[in-house]
Amino acid sequence: MTDTPFMTRRDVVAGSIAVAAVTTMSKNANAADAMTVMITGSNRGIGLEFVKQYAAKGWVVIATTRSPDKADELKKVAAANKSVVIEQLDVTSNASVDTLAAKYKGKPIDLLINNAGITGDFRRPKQASFGTLDHAVRDDFMHTNALGPLKVTEAFYENVKLGKGKKITAVTSLAGSFGAKFGGGIPGNYWYKISKATLNAAMVNVSIDAKKDGVIVTLLSPGIVQVEKIGNARRPGQIEPFESISGMIKVIDALTMDDAGVIIRYNGERQPV
Ligand SMILES: NC(=O)c1ccc[n+]([C@@H]2O[C@H](COP(=O)([O-])OP(=O)(O)OC[C@H]3O[C@@H](n4cnc5c(N)ncnc54)[C@H](OP(=O)(O)O)[C@@H]3O)[C@@H](O)[C@H]2O)c1
Repeated sequence: MTDTPFMTRRDVVAGSIAVAAVTTMSKNANAADAMTVMITGSNRGIGLEFVKQYAAKGWVVIATTRSPDKADELKKVAAANKSVVIEQLDVTSNASVDTLAAKYKGKPIDLLINNAGITGDFRRPKQASFGTLDHAVRDDFMHTNALGPLKVTEAFYENVKLGKGKKITAVTSLAGSFGAKFGGGIPGNYWYKISKATLNAAMVNVSIDAKKDGVIVTLLSPGIVQVEKIGNARRPGQIEPFESISGMIKVIDALTMDDAGVIIRYNGERQPV
């Protein structure tokens, strides 16, 4: 076994190689105490920035993406950081989640970040506007933004219990928060808001179950973040990924059980769900 920095699709299919790589990398880094984070939707946007920043902190990063073959930026990051392992994961596929969970059975994961999500097509706002709602896409939103993260959380819960960190988060949006009046009462955006509100409900419920195990489950609001999919368009209040993710990492570092089941913004402000 070489300490291959990233896994090809063939490696993923091969089964145990990536798990062995995590172990090898921990040894190579001479960091038996290295913390491990698993991040969904790692190939771009907020997820990719999480990978970069946790790798820079010396963590072992299990960076999941639904298409490792196409994850060029992530592969570059993994090539430069032996502690980053790329794994295939489609959060909407129960089989995909179960396959990866079986591969990691018995391996501690200190922190799980449910980041993968879809926001919809900005060019087609009518899809998500009352009166012209496109019901053909609603399942995609619910499965990607809410039910998938719940499945991932359940599938990797034992790993988190084995970890020292014992933390689970999901990247949500104030657009799905009753406490924030759905992002300040802006109309439309039905599928995103409903799916994020469902995510919030799911994670709050898990946070109640997880308390007995000492596992902190919370929701993170990243702010309005400039990611690739938005291109050069600027939105009011928009921030760069570095600011958002470094803020969220500080929040995660400081989490206590008092934070279970609440939304915490990247700048540390608490927001009722
Ligand atoms: N950017 C913001 O301002 C903002 C604000 C509030 C909340 N958020 C939340 O932050 C999270 C990340 O958003 P982002 O802005 O970084 O979006 P993004 O650039 O569109 O990235 C989304 C990520 O999710 C992945 N993904 C989508 N469907 C998936 C699936 N079925 N299985 C696994 N991965 C999947 C994508 O992979 P592919 O490349 O394969 O599509 C991509 O890696 C989302 O949950 C989003 O709702 C973002």
